[in-house]
Amino acid sequence: MSSPREFTLITGASSGIGEALARRLAAERRPVALVARRTDRLERLAGELRAAHGSEVQVLTADLAQPGAGAALQAETERRGIIVDWLVNNAGFGTHGRFHELPVTREVEEVQVNVAALVDLTGRFLPAMVERRRGAIMNMASLGGFAPGPFMATYCATKAFVLSFTESLAAELRGTGVHVLCVCPGFTRTEFQEKVDTFDTASLPSFVWMTADQVAEQAIAAVGVRSVLVNGLMNTVAASLSKHLPAGITTRLVAGMMKPKGA
Ligand SMILES: NC(=O)c1ccc[n+]([C@@H]2O[C@H](COP(=O)([O-])OP(=O)(O)OC[C@H]3O[C@@H](n4cnc5c(N)ncnc54)[C@H](OP(=O)(O)O)[C@@H]3O)[C@@H](O)[C@H]2O)c1
Repeated sequence: MSSPREFTLITGASSGIGEALARRLAAERRPVALVARRTDRLERLAGELRAAHGSEVQVLTADLAQPGAGAALQAETERRGIIVDWLVNNAGFGTHGRFHELPVTREVEEVQVNVAALVDLTGRFLPAMVERRRGAIMNMASLGGFAPGPFMATYCATKAFVLSFTESLAAELRGTGVHVLCVCPGFTRTEFQEKVDTFDTASLPSFVWMTADQVAEQAIAAVGVRSVLVNGLMNTVAASLSKHLPAGITTRLVAGMMKPKGA
């Protein structure tokens, strides 16, 4: 085993928001450990970051849809002498359509990646942070976590879980030296939408969109400052409205927006 060093471990670092977080943190010379399934993408990014910033970058291939992935990742970090001082649970994906028409195995996989893996990794790396009395957990939820999401029922439920779970942890950990942050982006231009091609994003006005880098910049700045970050003014207003409008109205508004193409 090599001598232990402190890293930020980022899941879902092969594209989108996770990649943007990795780029920003590596530019600050923070050692980063990149996790995802597409090793080629991670290796390419790692090479680029080492060359640009001389930063320490580790690549860890993992499929978080597999229930044993968290244990394997923990074992591999220990073997490499990686101490996880910041854990960024960012990996996730969404499915779109009427729940009863979607393949149920993919829905269960969504719960596994967006929820179970996040809880598993948090449970594996948090105790040592509490013991060291420092560290941070950043969990990626979504604006979709603030209300039920007809046509993205599983996705929005997973993000509601992440929001509730993370806010609870933040309250439990106050005064321990460990910071907990739930990040809630709205529409962000990444590969996420390419994978949800039944959702008509072309009709959305350009002002609703943020870039992955904007989300990453705000997220890093919010660590240690607050426990929930909703990215952007418009999304902040939407999140606040969803808390104050009668639940039935919010759900109908979301249903109208999320309707599959041609439905
Ligand atoms: N884009 C948006 O509009 C938006 C809005 C709100 C919240 N979010 C959330 O932001 C997070 C990042 O999404 P993104 O927008 O950056 O999308 P993205 O570009 O599609 O990135 C998703 C990342 O998750 C990884 N991932 C997916 N399934 C995985 C698995 N089984 N095992 C390991 N890694 C897996 C992907 O890597 P591999 O494919 O290489 O495994 C990829 O690196 C997600 O949690 C998403 O729900 C996105």
